[in-house]
Amino acid sequence: MAKKAPQILIVDDDNLNLTLLCKVISNTRPEYQIKTVSNGEDALSFLQNAIPDIIMLDVMMPGISGFEVCERVKKDARLKNIPILLITGLDRTEEKIKGFQLGAADYITKPFNSSEAIARIEAHLRIKQYHDELKEINEKLTLAQSALVESAKMSAVGSLAAGVSHEFNNMLTMMAGHAKLALKSDDIKDLHETIAIIQELVERGKDIVKSLLSFSKGDKESQGMTEADIKEIIAKVFLLMKKMIEDAHVEVKGNFNQVPRIKCYPNQLSQVFINLFKNAIEAMPKSAKKILTVSVEEKALSSCSGFVKDRIPSGSKTIVLIKVSDTGSGIPEEVKEKIFEPFVTTKSVLYGGNETTPGTGLGLSISYGIIKRHNGCIAVNSVINEGTTFEIALPVN
Ligand SMILES: Nc1ncnc2c1ncn2[C@@H]1O[C@H](COP(=O)(O)OP(=O)(O)O)[C@@H](O)[C@H]1O
Ligand SMILES: [Mg+2]
Repeated sequence: MAKKAPQILIVDDDNLNLTLLCKVISNTRPEYQIKTVSNGEDALSFLQNAIPDIIMLDVMMPGISGFEVCERVKKDARLKNIPILLITGLDRTEEKIKGFQLGAADYITKPFNSSEAIARIEAHLRIKQYHDELKEINEKLTLAQSALVESAKMSAVGSLAAGVSHEFNNMLTMMAGHAKLALKSDDIKDLHETIAIIQELVERGKDIVKSLLSFSKGDKESQGMTEADIKEIIAKVFLLMKKMIEDAHVEVKGNFNQVPRIKCYPNQLSQVFINLFKNAIEAMPKSAKKILTVSVEEKALSSCSGFVKDRIPSGSKTIVLIKVSDTGSGIPEEVKEKIFEPFVTTKSVLYGGNETTPGTGLGLSISYGIIKRHNGCIAVNSVINEGTTFEIALPVN
């Protein structure tokens, strides 16, 4: 695009000066568009509808003085970036200083030296041009940034939707399993127990919807933290997963030590344990021994590994350490590296997984996020064909 010729506004009550200045400029730069006015009032009214690239302003004028025009221009957001060159007498140092204080960019002295006047005009036009370009770049950056923020929000909504469908899927699978069990049972006590579990799962489903609704309202912490015993949370999860564990012929071993109650979101932590136990069960179909071991203990932060120390807030003296081990397939190195990233799964049909139970690759990324939200950390250790251990550290306090 061809660049627009610069527009110059010259304000001077001395007609002779005005003519001279115009002549000097148009002789050297015939392409410049020059607009002349002979007083402050006319200058301000011209500026109401125009934004010249530079203003040359006589200081001493009857009516509105050059200083006042300068002051008003600099206070107007629309005009303030226009450079102002004051036209002053030769020995008017005080005028020049006052002009600079009011925001003038430079001055030229009467009588003019034409090459100096042109040099100053061009210098300020160049600065103005850089300024305009920077402003344009900045506007584009701001635009790009808000687009980025928008797309990040969209993808947050996307992964939220994916996360919710993942959790719902877990709930529904467990409900279906228990419903099947209930249909087969003719023992009224058994039936009641199974229906109680289904009811519990329905409640969890409702909680998930509730948290989704509050998320969309921007109310992130709506569930509220409560003090809870991790052992109780885990015991409840085992109850919900009873059917799944039995069907997979998995033996569960628990090693629960006394631990302090911790401030947490119990429903979110249940979600973590459901994901870890489900993964463990899914890793063991071919194992000769199918054992899922869960241990819970309190540990001094000072006796923890550097990995844990680096990730737990230093204000916590102790942590609750939860270990979930299985005797399953183990995790290949290339999967382990990115195991907490979303959509990493070896359970899709593509990877030779079982078509009836395809993975989403979301369980561990969701769990990672939840543990992070609790200021804790999660790590994995695994040996191929021997098994896998996930360790979770949650700060006490
Ligand atoms: N206990 C485990 N034993 C072996 N592999 C595991 C275990 N836990 C997770 N993995 C691996 O990590 C991947 C990601 O797990 P996850 O995020 O829960 O997604 P998904 O279970 O839907 O595939 C799994 O596909 C599996 O390859
Ligand atoms: Mg999983």
